[in-house]
Amino acid sequence: MKKTRLDKILANSGCGSRKEVKALIKSGSVTVTGKIIKDPGYQVDLSTDSIEVDGEVLDYREFCYLMMNKPAGVISASWDRESRTVIDLLPEPYRNMKLFPAGRLDKDTEGLLLLTNDGQLAHKLLSPKKHVPKTYYAKVSGKVGPEDIQVFRQGIQLDDNFKTLPAMLEVLQAGEDSEVMVTIYEGKFHQIKRMFEAVGKKVKYLKRISMGSLKLDENLPAGSFRELTEAELDELKMLVNHIDQ
Ligand code: URA
Repeated sequence: MKKTRLDKILANSGCGSRKEVKALIKSGSVTVTGKIIKDPGYQVDLSTDSIEVDGEVLDYREFCYLMMNKPAGVISASWDRESRTVIDLLPEPYRNMKLFPAGRLDKDTEGLLLLTNDGQLAHKLLSPKKHVPKTYYAKVSGKVGPEDIQVFRQGIQLDDNFKTLPAMLEVLQAGEDSEVMVTIYEGKFHQIKRMFEAVGKKVKYLKRISMGSLKLDENLPAGSFRELTEAELDELKMLVNHIDQ
């Protein structure tokens, strides 16, 4: 049976940094299946052992999955020398869980961002071979019309000559500024902005609404987050495991 170090389990569960949980274990606050364990390297069998910290049962899950409504002004990275990152918006215990954003949104883009420490799921979700659909709401300068829908449908040659896959463009409102929904199947740098630039328009506001089966919870204000529900996670895993290679 696979065993895992006690300090690693506690650190992954957000009980503190590796150093902090070592001190916690040495202080005698942690029991494994009823016995006080003071060795941080103690090998736990997660299929049979139960862990308590200060008398409270630890709800251990190997990975954590958060849906965030990213606000404008923070960057999609785990750490940055200058700017605030999406991880800086998280409270304890999430900050200690080695979460990272699965995919990037520009600093001025808002909306759905998945934060996880499940590298395998993130890798599949972002794999260029998987073509996971991503839908964005955008406000665009200029009148978006049927000819733009047609160009997006055919795929667009970007400024670096990269030709995008066919994308779906739905016009919600057309005028001096237009409101649209766009679905793309890749994740190139500034892709939506560059696609509109290619048809002579400028994106003024961009918000991601969905990624694969995952939809941004409308009740999440910008800058806040929640854990994925079991149903959301199951659906996402099913999608990335079955979508075309
Ligand atoms: N396309 C963009 O141009 N920016 C984003 O943040 C996401 C997609």
